[in-house]
Amino acid sequence: MEIIIRHTPAEVAQVAASLLEPFIRTGATLGLATGSTPNPTYQELIRRHREEGLSFAKCRAFLLDEYYGLPASHEQSYHATIRRELTHHIDIADENVHSLDGAAVDPAQEVEDYEEAIEDAGGVDIQILGIGTNGHIAFNEPTSSLRSRTRLITLHPRTVADNARFFDSSDEVPRHALTQGIGTIMEARHLILIATGPAKADAARALIEGPLSASCPASALQLHNNATVLLDEAAAANLEGLAYYKAKEPYWPVGETYSC
Ligand code: GLP
Repeated sequence: MEIIIRHTPAEVAQVAASLLEPFIRTGATLGLATGSTPNPTYQELIRRHREEGLSFAKCRAFLLDEYYGLPASHEQSYHATIRRELTHHIDIADENVHSLDGAAVDPAQEVEDYEEAIEDAGGVDIQILGIGTNGHIAFNEPTSSLRSRTRLITLHPRTVADNARFFDSSDEVPRHALTQGIGTIMEARHLILIATGPAKADAARALIEGPLSASCPASALQLHNNATVLLDEAAAANLEGLAYYKAKEPYWPVGETYSC
């Protein structure tokens, strides 16, 4: 696991965009996350698209998850969110932006079809991840099997509370979601997990330094061969090995563009 720490979320976004850029240039299949954390990275990618000609035309994308019970047209569906935050501002074809259908009548069939679509696309080349305050990735809540596949899940009360800020009241937050499983996510060839802000400090520590455990779904990244964790100082504040992670960072190429 590579750990990169920057002072601010804006600096983290620069590094994340630079890690993603070579993949985008080669028309990779991107795994996209929603939530507020990746938004500065998406804004930087949009800037590079507009000002530097970074093209997404050959890319396709798969979203991690979706609220179950929200139609795609709902403004808080992840289908709508990713379009608002990223894909409507770049040159990726809309039909190449895939997501789970939160209104699916047959969720079991929906998740099976989604797994198949990812496989048919040749798998995800690089997956962006955020992390929940309880250590979840996508919507894989604590106790999710580390080998789980895409499925319907009940949201943890803490997740409902955390995500209530996007809705008029917590009563409106869906209690269920469709989510790629941890096993599904782990099949992506590269993972980039971004965590910023003090609310993520405990989860970041559990992910990096805690035991590999279904109690912290993100700890599964410890088993991935190409996982990069990008943190700002606030999210890195509780790491015991902070000095070591900072010391080994020059291992990374210096400059704007990272080659992976
Ligand atoms: C949701 C999403 C996750 C995301 C998490 C954190 O639960 N399903 O993919 O990582 O929220 O969101 P935020 O980045 O807004 O803190």
